[in-house]
This record gives sequence, C-alpha cells and structure tokens, in this order.
Amino acid sequence: MSDTPATYRPAQIWLHWIAVIGVILQIGFNSAIVAVVDAREAGQAPADADMAWAMFHVSIGFVILLAVIARLVLRFRHGVPGHAPGTSAAQGVVAELWPLRIHIVHPCG
Ligand code: HEM
Repeated sequence: MSDTPATYRPAQIWLHWIAVIGVILQIGFNSAIVAVVDAREAGQAPADADMAWAMFHVSIGFVILLAVIARLVLRFRHGVPGHAPGTSAAQGVVAELWPLRIHIVHPCG
C-alpha cells in the first residue's frame, strides 16, 4: 500500500455513489422479492412482474457487492485519506464500524 493519500481517487468516489444509489434502490424496490418469497412459502407460483423486480433486486445487490470488492481492492492498493483533524479515538472507531451495519442487518447482503 502507498502512503496515506490526501484525497480519495475519482474511482473510489464513483464506487461510493454507485453503492449509495444501489442501496437506496434496494430499500425502495424490495416488495417484489418479499412477495416472491411469501408466494413460494405459501406453495404458490409468484407473479411474473414480481419475479422480474425480484431479479432487479438481486442484480442490484450483486452490483453493490462488486462495487464493495472494487473499493476494497483500491483501498489496499492506494489507501484512503485519514480521519479529519480533531477526530477523537471513539469517533474513529464509529467511523470504521459504520459501513459494516448493512451486512449485519440484511440476511444475505
Ligand atoms: C446491499 C444490498 C442489499 C440491500 C440494501 C437489500 C435490502 C433489502 C431489504 C430492505 C429487504 C426487505 C426486507 C423485509 O422487508 O423483510 C430485502 C429483502 C430481500 N432481499 Fe435484499 N438487499 C440487498 C441485496 C440482496 C441480494 C444480493 C440478494 C440475493 C442474492 C437479496 C435477497 C433478498 C431476499 C430473498 C429478500 C426477501 C427476504 C424475505 O422476505 O424473507 N438481497 N432486501
């Protein structure tokens, strides 16, 4: 890994916003995949439209996964800027742990 950079690279910023938009889409468009799971659990065939939107949910989920992997690669290759001056140790710990929250709350995200 190189020395601590002063700023994020454009690719890191793009990947960040791709993940943000992806997560917003996932939160907004999950009723179809929930309907598919509910229909299957009830022994019924899911509606075609629900299946299509469920595939959208899964596809966007994998796009987010790829964006996360690419960001990890960039982080290990090029590093990331340090915390802002004046950040306390406790704030630093929260800032490091906060990105993990989505993986704790979602069944397979
Ligand atoms: C960061 C990526 C993702 C986010 C933010 C996300 C978000 C969500 C949300 C908010 C729900 C609704 C949960 C509920 O109402 O109970 C949901 C349901 C679901 N998601 Fe995702 N999701 C992501 C990725 C994925 C991926 C990659 C898959 C599959 C490989 C997936 C499969 C499912 C399934 C099967 C359900 C329905 C669960 C159920 O009803 O039991 N999700 N997701």
